[in-house]
Amino acid sequence: MSEIRNIVILTGAGVSAESGIDTFRDGGGLWEQHRVEDVATPEAFVRDPDLVHRFYDMRRAAIQEKEPNPAHFALARLDAEWPGELLIVTQNVDDLHERAGAHRVLHMHGEHLKAWCTSCDVRSVWREPLLARPPCPVCQARSLRPDVVWFGEMPYQMERIYAALRQADLFVSIGTSGAVYPAAGFVRDARELGARTLELNLERSQGSSWFHETRLGPASEVVPQWVDELLQ
Ligand code: OAD
Repeated sequence: MSEIRNIVILTGAGVSAESGIDTFRDGGGLWEQHRVEDVATPEAFVRDPDLVHRFYDMRRAAIQEKEPNPAHFALARLDAEWPGELLIVTQNVDDLHERAGAHRVLHMHGEHLKAWCTSCDVRSVWREPLLARPPCPVCQARSLRPDVVWFGEMPYQMERIYAALRQADLFVSIGTSGAVYPAAGFVRDARELGARTLELNLERSQGSSWFHETRLGPASEVVPQWVDELLQ
């Protein structure tokens, strides 16, 4: 593994599944229980803000009761011990990577534990419900929304992500279905830019053929195994 120095890791809902957080597209997943158009678009928020707030208030409360699993801890260990560049780009809006101890984490789809004030544009750490329209702690406007990227909105920090992909020797995708762009396209970008590509997932993702290697199994098993290999 000595030729590998710079690593980009993309994580998705599968990495938090064994912590008890629902994925989106597996049987019984969130998008089977709720219509995306009702809760996860800017149009939904204009049409029925109470419904959207209730959905995210529930999710925000739920993730605070969950704990990181061995996959999060293994990635945190890799983050701590890997001497080269490393970036964990997560599509997850939970904070389980951080609670496991990882630092080099980028939340491209936002974070449940932040609220974004659409009046003053400041994002504040937020753990409580938003349904009652609490004031923004900075400007006092009652204009807080979940700091989560909805369908039709631009994911966060794309320039930083592409800069990391350009430098990557290894791109690893963990627990994501490859259904949502632009994240689903990272494997192709990384590979065309010369990185080795590895997929760790319960089942093959939609872009599976773009990976040089696929290892199937629960994240709590395959991720620690892979990290052990890389660090040995
Ligand atoms: P999905 O629900 O689409 O996919 C979850 C993936 O995790 C699937 O490929 C499962 O096979 C896999 N999986 C499930 N359990 C697993 C386990 N124990 N170990 C390993 N893998 C497991 O979730 P994402 O790909 O993360 O965006 O979804 C991407 C985006 O779509 C989300 O960030 C969200 C959603 O709409 C927004 O809300 C903007």
